Amino acid sequence: MSYKSIFCSFFFLLGAGLVSIEGKVFTKCELAKTMKAHGFPKSQLGTWVCIAYHESRLNTKTVNHATGDYGIFQISHYYWCSDSNVPGKGCKITCKSLLVDDISGSMACARKVFTETQKGKTKNGFTAWVTYKKHCKGNQSKWIKGCGL
Ligand SMILES: *[C@@H]1O[C@H](CO)[C@@H](O)[C@H](O)[C@H]1NC(C)=O
Repeated sequence: MSYKSIFCSFFFLLGAGLVSIEGKVFTKCELAKTMKAHGFPKSQLGTWVCIAYHESRLNTKTVNHATGDYGIFQISHYYWCSDSNVPGKGCKITCKSLLVDDISGSMACARKVFTETQKGKTKNGFTAWVTYKKHCKGNQSKWIKGCGL
């Protein structure tokens, strides 16, 4: 890539409000394994990786300043995390804490979002994520193919 195109892409992304700087970037298998180790059902792992890929390209430091979504799962400040330095809202955490390399907090909050959304009229916790409806419905086992799970 030329300097000019790097420069242009950066400002394109800035314009879209979506910027990731120096985060830990997970591989698909690394994310699937980490989630499995934290008790997410194997049948859901492909769908989670698909969602996280489309939300953040698996970069923990992703922030969408336009919508106020944070971290690898792009969790929303509207209901789930506090913009201040005081932990709060649904996940009782700060939004900033969702940007660290250790995704324990992001996973715990994603699980909460999923469980709460499952109680709603869709009965499907994944519908909390717009990218699910767009890209990740149905059998998503291809995302974790060859991960040895
Ligand atoms: C999903 O697709 C894979 C590969 O195409 C297949 O092996 C698997 O049985 C499917 N799973 C379900 C639940 O349909």
